[in-house]
Amino acid sequence: MNYPFWEIPILGSGWVIGIIAIFHVMISQFAVGGGLYLPVAERKMQRMTDPVLREAWRKQLARHSKFFLLVTGVFGTVSGVGIWFAIGLTHPEATSTLIHNFVFGWAIEWVFFLVELTTIAVYYYTWDKIDDKLHLQVGWVYAIASAFTLIIINGILSFMLTPGDAWIAVAGTGQEASKFWNGFFNPTYWPSLFLRSCVCCSLAGVWALITASRLDGDKQPELKTSLVRWSARWLVPSFLAMPLLMIWYYLCVPASQQALLTLGIDTINAGTFSAVTRMALVIVLTSATIVGVTYFLAYRSPRDFSLSYALAVLLLALIATGAGEYSREMLRKPYVIGRWMYSNGTRVPAVARINREGYLKNSLWTWGNGATSYSRGEAIFRGECSSCHTMDGYRPIRTLLAGRDSANIHNFVQMLHDYKPDMPYRKFMPPMAGTAQDVDDLSNYLNAKINLGK
Ligand code: HEC
Repeated sequence: MNYPFWEIPILGSGWVIGIIAIFHVMISQFAVGGGLYLPVAERKMQRMTDPVLREAWRKQLARHSKFFLLVTGVFGTVSGVGIWFAIGLTHPEATSTLIHNFVFGWAIEWVFFLVELTTIAVYYYTWDKIDDKLHLQVGWVYAIASAFTLIIINGILSFMLTPGDAWIAVAGTGQEASKFWNGFFNPTYWPSLFLRSCVCCSLAGVWALITASRLDGDKQPELKTSLVRWSARWLVPSFLAMPLLMIWYYLCVPASQQALLTLGIDTINAGTFSAVTRMALVIVLTSATIVGVTYFLAYRSPRDFSLSYALAVLLLALIATGAGEYSREMLRKPYVIGRWMYSNGTRVPAVARINREGYLKNSLWTWGNGATSYSRGEAIFRGECSSCHTMDGYRPIRTLLAGRDSANIHNFVQMLHDYKPDMPYRKFMPPMAGTAQDVDDLSNYLNAKINLGK
C-alpha cells in the first residue's frame, strides 16, 4: 500500500508511476537503442567514399547527438529519479523489497549511468576535435554502457512479474540475497530482454526520423534520402521478431496470469475484453500503423518526409509503449511482486495472520495499537483497496459498487475475504485480509459512501 496520507484523488497513485514510467521508458529505451545507432551510423559515415555526402552525414550526426544528449541526459535522468520518488511514495513495501534484494544490482546500474552520462557528453563535445577512430571508440563505450543499464534493470523488472521458484522458496526468511541470481535470471528475463532490445532499436529509428525529417529535402536531397531510409530500416528487425518474442514472453508467464489475457480472447464474441487483451490489440494496431507510415511515407518518399509525420510516428510509438507497459502491469495482478506480495503491499503468507489478528494491528501506518487518523473502515480501504481503486476517478469504487445495498456490499467484501479458489476476482484482486470485524468496518465504510452519500 502507499502511505495512507498520500492520496491521489482522480488518477490514483498507480497512474502517477504509470505516467512517469511510460515517459521514462520511451526515453531510456531510446538511450539504449540510440546509443547503438550513433556509433553504427558514424562507422558507416566514416567509410563513405563520396566526400560531400560523408561531410553532410557527419554534420547531421553531430546535430543528432546533441538532440540525443539533451533528450536522454536531461529528460531521461529527471524522469528516472521521478520514478524513484513515485514508487517510494506509492509502494514503500515493494520498493524496499527491490532495494534489499538487488542492492548490488542497483549499485552497478548507477555506475553504468555515470559512464553513460560522461561518455555521451564527451562524444558530443569532441566531434571534429579528436581523431575519427578515437571518437568512434567513445561512441562504442557509450553503446556498451547503455546496453548494460538495460541488461541490469531488465533483471529487476522481470523479477517483479516472475520471481521464480528458487527465490520464492527463500522469500521472507532473510536469505533472499542468496538467490540473487535466480531472482535476476528469472523465467521472463530472456524474452523480456530480447523484446526490450527490439523496442530499443525501433525507438532509435523513430527518434532518428525526427532529426532527419527536419532536413530540407530540396536543398539536400541525397543526404535526406539516405538518412531517412537508413533510419527507417532500424524498425525492421523488431517488427519481424516482435510477434514471436511476445509469444515466447507470454509462454514464460505463469498460467494463472496468462488467464488474464485469454479471459478477454475467449470471450471476444461476448464482447468482454479484459484490459490486457484490449491493450494487446492496441499494441498490434499501433505497431502495424507505424510500419505502414514508415514504409510509405518515409522509405518510399524520404525527401518529403516532414516533421509532422515523424511526430505522428513518435506519438504512435508512445501509445504502443504505454500499452505495452500497461499490459505488463495488468498481467502481474493481483501482485506487485509475483506470488509474493499483493499490489496492496500485503505479503501472501501474511494473510492468515492478518485474518487472525486484524488488519490494522499489522499495519505499519497506525499510531500503534491499530489507532489511525481515519475511521477504521477508511483506514482499511486506504490500505487494502486504494492501490488499485479511487473513490470517484480511476476504477471508481462508487461506480463499481453502485446499485448494491448494504447487505450486498457486505457479501462482496466477505467474498473477497474468503477468497475461494473458484472466485473469478482472484485473477486480479488480492484477498481482503482481516478479521470479521474488519470486514464489517470496511463494508460499513463503503456502504456509507455508496448509499448514505457520505
Ligand atoms: C490489485 C489491484 C486491486 C486491488 C488491491 C483491489 N482491486 Fe478491486 N478490482 C481490481 C480490478 C482490476 C477490477 C476490475 C475493474 C473493472 O472491471 O474495471 C476490480 C473490480 C472491483 C469491483 C467491481 C466488481 C464487479 O463485479 O464489477 C469492486 C466492487 C472492487 N473491485 C472492490 C475492491 C475492494 C473493496 C478492494 C479492497 C478490499 C479492492 N477492490 C482491491 C483491482 C483491484
